[in-house]
Amino acid sequence: MSEQPPSPPTHTLHICVTCRPKGAPPDAVRDGRLLFEAVAALHADWPERHQVALNGVECMSGCDRACTVALSGPGKPSYLFCDKAPTPETAAAALDLAAQYAASDTGVLMRGERPAPFRSGILAKIPPSTP
Ligand code: FES
Repeated sequence: MSEQPPSPPTHTLHICVTCRPKGAPPDAVRDGRLLFEAVAALHADWPERHQVALNGVECMSGCDRACTVALSGPGKPSYLFCDKAPTPETAAAALDLAAQYAASDTGVLMRGERPAPFRSGILAKIPPSTP
């Protein structure tokens, strides 16, 4: 009997890799890239990685509010967070938030229940698509 490969992730954690602070020179290392790499290092061994894919994207139209992080999942509202520092704390919190999101039936992330770095800075909460 052959073992079934794991199902592809149903949720996605998006991180903008091109975010940079206002006024940073264009050739400077991007804060968004630093945050993405910190999350990717944790995601590689993260128990929930089979539920939540990590997606590095170039711009989510929150450029004045770097760094930006988003979540999307089937039948759930999508979120766009801004003003996130490219720190190890933010990276770990992004995965904690993604795990909460994937485990929730509704995908609603109440402020008081979110990890501290994500209790502020929601730029958008977009309703799920309708059938
Ligand atoms: S460069 Fe990151 S949101 Fe535009």
